[in-house]
Amino acid sequence: MNLLLLGSGGREHALAWKIAQSPKIDKLYIAPGNAGTSTVGENVPLKVDDFPNIKVFCLSNKIGMVVVGPEDPLVKGIYNYFQNDAELCHIPVIGPSEQGAVLEGSKDFAKGFMQRHSIPTAAYRTFDGHMLEDGIRFLETLQPPYVLKADGLCAGKGVLILPTLEEAKKELREMLGGMFGNASSRVVIEEFMSGIECSVFVLTDGKDYVILPEAKDYKRIGEGDTGLNTGGMGSVSPVPFATKDWMKKVEDRIIRPTIKGLAEENIDYKGFIFFGLINVNGDPKVIEYNVRMGDPETESVMLRIKSDLVDLFEGVATQTLSQRKMEIDDRSAVCVMLVSGGYPGHYEKGYPIEGLDQVEGSIVFHAGTTIKDHQVVTNGGRVIAVSSYGATKEKALKKSFQEAQKIQFEKKYFRSDIGADL
Ligand code: AMP
Ligand code: GLY
Repeated sequence: MNLLLLGSGGREHALAWKIAQSPKIDKLYIAPGNAGTSTVGENVPLKVDDFPNIKVFCLSNKIGMVVVGPEDPLVKGIYNYFQNDAELCHIPVIGPSEQGAVLEGSKDFAKGFMQRHSIPTAAYRTFDGHMLEDGIRFLETLQPPYVLKADGLCAGKGVLILPTLEEAKKELREMLGGMFGNASSRVVIEEFMSGIECSVFVLTDGKDYVILPEAKDYKRIGEGDTGLNTGGMGSVSPVPFATKDWMKKVEDRIIRPTIKGLAEENIDYKGFIFFGLINVNGDPKVIEYNVRMGDPETESVMLRIKSDLVDLFEGVATQTLSQRKMEIDDRSAVCVMLVSGGYPGHYEKGYPIEGLDQVEGSIVFHAGTTIKDHQVVTNGGRVIAVSSYGATKEKALKKSFQEAQKIQFEKKYFRSDIGADL
């Protein structure tokens, strides 16, 4: 089968690396991909939301399956675009329908969904521009810190956690006043939850599901989890507190009710669900849903999947997932992200990357890279993920840190405390 994978980050390189190992694949295309994905498949210069040109490409290259990496094309309805087109409807898209993608596309919808299906999450209320005074009064009833979330997609920037009531009121005014454009025309205010976070992933065919290895990601730029939020500075799998008992709670209280809820609400969902969880005194609660895999979690999670991922995707497409198995590697897997100096603020692009061929025993996933004059150069804030296996997470981390030293580009930065809190 020929498979088209959409996306261009570290997540997509890790997915492409795993997909390319499947004996079921004749040809793997990645659109638009990056310098790394071109080593495991063929990059195609197509935008992930350019559906008409994706159609032309699929038909002329006999694509048998489309796997969607990022949320954007899902929220824009790529699944429905294929389903509603007579020439495309035979090609399965791994990813939810437009309606399913609202679980990520609208925080208010996600909170309502959890409430309807008794899925544990923080108490909340949603306010629009006409309800500013109500929102302020609601804030006054809460304890600090205050959690404000723009309802719509904001490229990971739409959540504010504020230490004082004054700041919370000011930010609420600004958000409802258009700080994030349309995305913050509605704002969810919710109870603050304290605990350690864990990302849990499932692949579902709408009836059944398989659980992927869980992972923890490290969002802040600075050591000791300080400084600004980033897309993610590293990840570790497995997560020590995600014991068998804890994962049973996750499955009983969160995963199963979510899959059942989607079916009850007639939401067509065949793809990944990413549960952003927090462990509150031993009980898992949902912080957010995403309708795709996590980045940089994927760069450690893919290492631990022993099953043929394409076989699982076929199970999703034909609703026969119950007949397939998710086999997981017992070893630990981690990833350490090398980023551009200045990220997540201003940074420069185009610096040559040296030493990639010196790396031994770790797997290098490209995130923000491109090829310029036959040289791999930096092309984003997050540049390279160095992923490693180890008998323990300590051994895996030691390996990734060691190999990370061999890769050089100007103003390279990485966090050397990934996994140290666990
Ligand atoms: P989200 O985009 O919803 O994942 O939120 C971004 C980050 O904000 C999460 O990964 C958490 O670290 C934090 N966060 C979001 N909601 C809450 C909450 N209710 N309590 C505590 N932290 C939260
Ligand atoms: N690592 C968090 C995310 O992908 O949203």
